[in-house]
Amino acid sequence: MTASDRRRAEEPEAPSTGGVNRPRHDHRFDRVWLDAHLCTMAPRGEDPLGVIEDGAIAAKDGRIAWVGKRSDLPAAAEVTTRCDGAWILPGLIDCHTHLVFGGNRAREFEMRLEGASYEDIAKAGGGILSTVRATRAASEDDLVASALPRLDALLAEGVTTVEVKSGYGLDLDTEARMLRAARRLGQARAVSVATSLLAAHAVPPESAGRAADYVRHVADGILPAIAAEGLADAVDAFTDSAIAFTPEETARVFDAAQRHGLRVKLHADQLRDDGGAALAARYGALSADHIEYANPDGIAAMARAGTVGVLLPGAFYFIRETKQPDLAAMRAAGLRLALATDLNPGSSPAPSVLLMLNMGCTLFRLTVAEALAGVTRHAAAALGFDDRGMLAPGLRCDLALFAVSRPAELCYWIGRNTCVGRVVNGR
Ligand code: NIG
Ligand code: FE
Repeated sequence: MTASDRRRAEEPEAPSTGGVNRPRHDHRFDRVWLDAHLCTMAPRGEDPLGVIEDGAIAAKDGRIAWVGKRSDLPAAAEVTTRCDGAWILPGLIDCHTHLVFGGNRAREFEMRLEGASYEDIAKAGGGILSTVRATRAASEDDLVASALPRLDALLAEGVTTVEVKSGYGLDLDTEARMLRAARRLGQARAVSVATSLLAAHAVPPESAGRAADYVRHVADGILPAIAAEGLADAVDAFTDSAIAFTPEETARVFDAAQRHGLRVKLHADQLRDDGGAALAARYGALSADHIEYANPDGIAAMARAGTVGVLLPGAFYFIRETKQPDLAAMRAAGLRLALATDLNPGSSPAPSVLLMLNMGCTLFRLTVAEALAGVTRHAAAALGFDDRGMLAPGLRCDLALFAVSRPAELCYWIGRNTCVGRVVNGR
């Protein structure tokens, strides 16, 4: 919403006369949104989107206090926002990003166009390790400054919660600096930031050939120090038997996370089937992400464990993966699916959740309802949040407003931002 729209929209309601047709102000609500259609994402009967046409939302103290048909709205509020027929969704949640990093990898992009593969580049010391060099050389201020424009691109699309991983430091100082930069992003902008320690992203150059030693250092050195400083909300790892960590090495990191009371997430089965899905399930992971190569047994185990499957179509597209995630097995198992940008310099330089909605539908054949749940309700679950992701009383009043004719339009446009407003914590 532009400033002038907002001025027009935010008319204080005229003082109530107490007439029969006029709702009285009371102290139940401090703000209401009217002239909107709601995509509550709280499934109702046959409708997975929980649509309420001609709806209204009321907030009190940053929480949603009331949701329903406008005609049923029980009271007025001090501030009324008229939404010109916009569709309101829960604020979008990008549950998997590597938003904080130094440099970029446009040169490797060129190399790939000249024939090198993502794996070739990683094995030749490029890939993740080239971003590690750039990130180690960056100050905390540099990291914040370079991340802000990427974060702003997400916010402009209606994102109100974003997850940010470390993983380009691979030493305690730099991992901590990345996570402090991530926390600062949440102070610099109106957005919730959830942080994940991804020290087990790659073997650092100084430990080349000694993965086991590095894993021990992550488990006994980096992770306890990060936990003590409260810098991480969860612990992530990259299981890949060829270019990252084996399932056994990953398990050592996860054991340490559990000793420190931190939930885990996993980059799993992205380039081959390493049994990552089953491993994530065994540790009750919040999510297993990528999972193109996850097998049906691993997928079923995830569903039983309540582990969310996070699909990352930006990385699938950018590295020109051809193995589709096994959506049939995921649906059969009743696996909750989220959808995220994986925003990172190497495999998904894509600061756009709306683009992921389109790619999730186009590349993976998600339905509109699945895709939208993937950036709201299920994305919240992938971060362990039960206070957001739907429009329902008691939840955080985080909203995203879109000038679209129907929810499907959010998935339909390629590279067009229809977001016209964003509300965080009721403001
Ligand atoms: O999620 N899979 C591993 N990590 C990132 C890529 C990181 C990079 O290439 O810099 C991912 O795709
Ligand atoms: Fe990732």
